[in-house]
Amino acid sequence: MAKILIVDDDEMNLMVTDMVLSEMKYDVSTASSGEDCIAMLMREPYDLLLLDIEMQDMSGIQVLEQIRDIPKIREIKTVFLTASSHRADMSDAIRLGALDFIRKPALPEDLIGAVRQALQAREKELILAVDDEPMNLMATEELFGIRYHVRTASSGSEALQSIQNEKPDLVLLDLHMPGMDGLEVLKEIHEMDGCENLPVVFLTADDDVDTEAKIFKAGAIDFIAKPFVMEVALERIRRLLELKHLQDSLQDEVERKTEALLESNQKIRKLSNQVIYALAGAIDAKDSYTNGHSKRVAEYSKELARRLGKPEAETNEIYNIALLHDVGKIGIPIEIINKPGKLTEEEYNAIKNHTIMGHNILSTISEMPSLSIGAHWHHERYDGKGYPDGIAGEDIPEIARIICVADCYDAMSSDRSYRKALPQHIVREEIERGKGTQFDPRVAEVMLQMIDEDKDYRMRGSKDGN
Ligand SMILES: [Fe+2]
Repeated sequence: MAKILIVDDDEMNLMVTDMVLSEMKYDVSTASSGEDCIAMLMREPYDLLLLDIEMQDMSGIQVLEQIRDIPKIREIKTVFLTASSHRADMSDAIRLGALDFIRKPALPEDLIGAVRQALQAREKELILAVDDEPMNLMATEELFGIRYHVRTASSGSEALQSIQNEKPDLVLLDLHMPGMDGLEVLKEIHEMDGCENLPVVFLTADDDVDTEAKIFKAGAIDFIAKPFVMEVALERIRRLLELKHLQDSLQDEVERKTEALLESNQKIRKLSNQVIYALAGAIDAKDSYTNGHSKRVAEYSKELARRLGKPEAETNEIYNIALLHDVGKIGIPIEIINKPGKLTEEEYNAIKNHTIMGHNILSTISEMPSLSIGAHWHHERYDGKGYPDGIAGEDIPEIARIICVADCYDAMSSDRSYRKALPQHIVREEIERGKGTQFDPRVAEVMLQMIDEDKDYRMRGSKDGN
């Protein structure tokens, strides 16, 4: 639990604050003077200091001033407790890097809220100040140094090098510098890898409208006119950094969500593919003569599509569609599918019906409407003499024309229970003969090329399902 030190010279206040925070299970210690406070901080580390401003011996501001000068304890997160809203105190408190003010008497919920927020406050951000005037750099360091880590650079090239070494949270940039001026430096910063959105604030003595427009057009997030009012400058930088953190966390959130979405899309795609493979496996298992047929037809179809110039996404889709081209056989009695002898007309009609059945099965998958095309029309012929619809030429969807060639090629080039695979030259002749009658001539031509390249007749299916 966080350790909190409360410092107040009013015993009643000290007691009430202690009670409220102890109730919230914080590890609370108390001190009633600035001197005790510093001594306690030196003895052991605390996570937060709640410091009363109006104390008798040493004011809270003076106490914090001393603390900030002692390296061992200077980083302590501090929140002031105050009954007044004295402007000078406020400005000193800001200068000294106080995180918040709690008005006394505070409601318990306000006190708890402020404490929680202060405990969660981020580590100090890093500001890079760029100015060719050493005096200006010193002043900037002094002003921002308590609340932020400040690094300095006295020229544009030094600034770019410094950013390369460690990316700051914000850059304070002088407009007029010898060599590279501020605008050039800004351009170079935003061209650096990962620095496209690095907030850059200009410090400039020219506060005319033209300069202002030029600065914003160049991509600066803000500008502060010199000489500046300390509290205003600090407050502006605080808000800009707050904005940057909000943008960063929004960006992180978007990236996280996108990643999760991609992952879940990938899972869905994987699942769809697995379902498709399982279904294709079920078809092939039923038809014992043509083991591995669906997979081979899918592979040939994909290669035909690729050679016909289809993009990869389309060839993958064709693979899946081809894999399921015979899915309708699931609905045909097994005795008919595996009948060794000649089929009766009735049996032949039942077999032909696998195209319609396949279409009916796959058209229920509304998320993949093209899936049923192959099953429906892979037995159509280019001359219109096929089935089930007798459509011809370009009326047959191209996917079905591709699968038709791949299907017939595999039927001839694989072993069946009643015969061995046909010799390659016979298969080639059959494809050649079917050009323009059974097959789309363009697709058949590509199939012929594939056959001619396949010197060892590797594109074939053997009985063991290869
Ligand atoms: Fe078929």
